[in-house]
Amino acid sequence: MPVISERGIEMPNSPIRKLAPLSDSAKARGLKVYHLNIGQPDIATPEAGLDAIRNLDRKILEYSPSDGYRSYREKLVGYYAKYNINVSADDIIITTGGSEAVLFAFLACLDPGDEIIVPEPAYANYMAFAVSAGAVIRGVSSTIEEGFSLPSIDKFEELINERTKGIMICNPNNPTGYLYTRAEMNQIKSLVQKHDLFLFSDEVYREFIYTGSPYISACHLVGIEDNVVLIDSVSKRYSECGIRIGALITKNKELRNTVMKFCQARLSPPLIGQIIAEASLDADPDYFRDTYDEYVERRKFLIDGLNRIPGVYSPIPMGAFYTVARLPVDDADKFCAWCLSDFEYDGQTIFMAPASGFYTTAGLGKDEVRIAYVLNKEDLGNALIVLEKALETYNSLPRK
Ligand SMILES: Cc1ncc(COP(=O)(O)O)c(C=O)c1O
Repeated sequence: MPVISERGIEMPNSPIRKLAPLSDSAKARGLKVYHLNIGQPDIATPEAGLDAIRNLDRKILEYSPSDGYRSYREKLVGYYAKYNINVSADDIIITTGGSEAVLFAFLACLDPGDEIIVPEPAYANYMAFAVSAGAVIRGVSSTIEEGFSLPSIDKFEELINERTKGIMICNPNNPTGYLYTRAEMNQIKSLVQKHDLFLFSDEVYREFIYTGSPYISACHLVGIEDNVVLIDSVSKRYSECGIRIGALITKNKELRNTVMKFCQARLSPPLIGQIIAEASLDADPDYFRDTYDEYVERRKFLIDGLNRIPGVYSPIPMGAFYTVARLPVDDADKFCAWCLSDFEYDGQTIFMAPASGFYTTAGLGKDEVRIAYVLNKEDLGNALIVLEKALETYNSLPRK
């Protein structure tokens, strides 16, 4: 038999999806499974975007330019300006989801063996994209006790060596919901400047910030414009995960030209997705108000509910729609699998993402799970009841 690549073998399974077969079996047994594992919002897509598909009237579904339609990129300039992000259409490259933006950023900036430092827990696919590029992620651990704030900059400094090429942050953060403060962003800027690193900043959740604290984009940091690579996506903003539209934004011309070679090789980002995403820029302002209010309520409901369960602790996430909670269990991987394979309460069970897969440092996150609050309050309420019952039952099982 031909031999699979080492890279293929090294490629991690998604911690978000790896328990999916157990969930499928639970559903096949007739159980209702509450999906707390995945950031697929149940919020409707804006009408402006849906109308764009309804009114689609084309004779040819052609390739678009490799960097995306200029009309869309020009309209995005106005969107970013509202966040004080001053970019031109030529700084923006449209990608097949934010996922492709991360992959192309890594492929264009990192050689095999190069390292990037990432505060962990981190969005797990960064690990997968790093493996794709042959690069190495060095995790700097943030802790639940400190609300997952930025670890001390000394910890980053300790990891910097001749192979270090960049820092990757996610702000607001998936999985922790943490929002970096101005002071923290300035610390990151100084580090990037001092060692002339790339700063990959994934800001796909900027619409979802709940505390009134300012959103400091990497693009606001003066003096490191050529170092910054902004990762963006419409997936969460407009509940358009399926249209596969994201963006890579950089003012670094050499990097843009390099990324464009990867874009040209894959020919073009999705045509229909761009049409929908462009139309969605005209979404009714009420759409965002209603969506935002809904997430504010869900967040409070979930976090209060979690912290009321004996032994469970969750910090209050400031943004995005996830939290990392600590559970009173020996091994969250085992517990999450057990919930799907061996437990039910009233015909229901829960699907959570074990947090260990969001860390690169082995052994971390063993008693933590990531919970997405993308379900309506009634379902979240039921899921909380199921979680409490599951913990009681699991912890009363005889241990080997
Ligand atoms: C932090 C973060 N970045 C990037 C992505 C990728 O999004 P997409 O490829 O759907 O645009 C996601 C999706 O969940 C995410 O949570």
